[in-house]
Amino acid sequence: VIMTAPTEKAICARAALQEGGLAQRFAVLRRGIPVQCFVVAYDGDVHAYVNSCPHRGTELDWQPGEVFDQDGLYFVCATHGAMFEADSGHCSAGPCRGAALVRVPVEIRDGVVMLVEDVLASGEGESSPA
Ligand code: FES
Repeated sequence: VIMTAPTEKAICARAALQEGGLAQRFAVLRRGIPVQCFVVAYDGDVHAYVNSCPHRGTELDWQPGEVFDQDGLYFVCATHGAMFEADSGHCSAGPCRGAALVRVPVEIRDGVVMLVEDVLASGEGESSPA
């Protein structure tokens, strides 16, 4: 068994994310299987989630990266219109109301959004670009 230190991966520049704007898509490998995720800027911070609606498991995007409503306040699932709070992932309206998106831990270092991948992958992990 090769022991490795927790590793981090760069997702994108913090400056590439506009408040309430397009999400940056990325993927992590979980047991070798890519899991699609996205990160957005909202309320002055960054928030990342697994890109899977709790209702049917589809990706939220209307078009790649388009997860926000027109006002940049809530995520809206393109499949059946569930609405999610951007800072918590909590579903506040729609068929999966009361459920939540799975949060992905990220942090900002030197202006770069970094995936703290060992947390999501529970120590299994590698990551790869989307
Ligand atoms: S799959 Fe998202 S609301 Fe149905």
